[in-house]
Amino acid sequence: MNFHLKPLDLSALANDKTDILLVFVTDDFKPAADALSGWIDTTVKHGDFRAKSGASLELYRPTDLQCKRLVLLSLGPGHAADTKKMLSTALTRLKSTEPRQLTLSFLSKPTDAVLRAALSTLCDVSYVYTTTKSKAEVRSLHRVDIFAPLDQALRNTFTQAVATIQGVELAREWGNRPANHATPAKLAQAARALAEFPNTRCKVLGPKAVAALGMGAFQAVAQGSDEPLRFIELRYQGTTKSTAPVVLVGKGVTFDSGGISIKPAAEMDEMKFDMCGAASVLGVFQALGQLQPKINVVGLIPACENLPSGRSVKPGDVVTSMSGQTIEVLNTDAEGRLILCDALTYAARFKPCAVVDIATLTGACVIALGSVRSGLFCNDAALSAALQQAGETSLDPCWSMPLDDEYAQGLKTAFADVANVAGRPGGAITGAKFLQRFAGKAPWAHLDIAGTAWNSGKDKGATGRPVGLLVAYLMALAGKRV
Ligand code: BES
Ligand code: MN
Ligand code: ZN
Repeated sequence: MNFHLKPLDLSALANDKTDILLVFVTDDFKPAADALSGWIDTTVKHGDFRAKSGASLELYRPTDLQCKRLVLLSLGPGHAADTKKMLSTALTRLKSTEPRQLTLSFLSKPTDAVLRAALSTLCDVSYVYTTTKSKAEVRSLHRVDIFAPLDQALRNTFTQAVATIQGVELAREWGNRPANHATPAKLAQAARALAEFPNTRCKVLGPKAVAALGMGAFQAVAQGSDEPLRFIELRYQGTTKSTAPVVLVGKGVTFDSGGISIKPAAEMDEMKFDMCGAASVLGVFQALGQLQPKINVVGLIPACENLPSGRSVKPGDVVTSMSGQTIEVLNTDAEGRLILCDALTYAARFKPCAVVDIATLTGACVIALGSVRSGLFCNDAALSAALQQAGETSLDPCWSMPLDDEYAQGLKTAFADVANVAGRPGGAITGAKFLQRFAGKAPWAHLDIAGTAWNSGKDKGATGRPVGLLVAYLMALAGKRV
């Protein structure tokens, strides 16, 4: 999809031969002499459209306008969340008309949040998954023109929003791919492709190199599958080498059957989404590659399958992590933390300013927070605040969860330094407490995206979250440093 930002020009809009001309009308609208103004003025004067009410009005081939459909939308109270809701309803309704071109116009300057919300909604609604369909119905929308009263700040918001959207789409794409089309090796290829961007490098380790590093916990998960593991290291260097990087660690379990502690059959297919943390890291690197901010970022992805076989790790097995800590694997379905703990240990070598891991870690987090907010677990107040703020501004919100040491009680065992599961109570928190043992000196945060990374049911599919949150966090950081 191509996006173009243009200064507001009502007569150009009237002459726009677009499939859908969508106009956000505000109360202070002052008509000019052009045909579009005439239409808006008429509908407002006759009480058929109230700019404040959350209303919408659709006209088919209105006279003196060149568009096929004119859609007037009120901005409601002007909150980004309202923009998202209204635009999503209007576009979903018009999806069957298969528009190729869409023009979106703001008659008065939108806030940054409203522009971001509008762009991301456009993308979400028009997205079509095609990769494994033989006769793909492709995305009809090719071109989006946006008209608004412009200033430099809005241009920057636009650029960032478009790059974010492309990152979100990459994350959705890899999240949605079936496990046999998104193996650890294929994820590594996707990461390598990102190294085509300026200032971006990629290194991929296979089973031998991972064994040499002593990543015994990661290896234990991978050993049950015939599909060899990959450890992916992406590096984006946007500023001096000596600047401490942010390290992002994404859970890349390309299929989670549970292993010997096997999951029930119902909905097991959804465990192809268990690499959405990894996909979000790829999405962030896509956005970084395009935006080239003055920061350094490292992306780490341990990628493997979790399958039962004669070689699988068994309940009760004790493995040695890269940190030296021994782990009793009481439940092979708690595998995410096993692959992440070794990646967290590895992260220390970059002397990071912050480490953020992103993982579809626990069903318990879905029970706690549903699909609205990701779970945020953080041992540093400033990092926690920055991530929460980024979540709000990007409409990709998270919610801070506790990390009291008492929650780690259940991880004690007689047979190793730590067990990989505690009881069912507070399951999202005990998972985080396990990871915290492997976090180094740098501020650390864990995002449990089990409830937010994909939708189940009739709209089943990856959401691309939390790419929006992460890009907003990193761009705010870059803004502070220049
Ligand atoms: N990938 C799952 C978490 C998950 C489950 C995400 C359902 C979304 C929906 C993870 O590896 C897992 O199986 N976690 C276990 C942990 C338990 C054994 C302590 C879980 O949540 O049941
Ligand atoms: Mn599992
Ligand atoms: Zn899992």
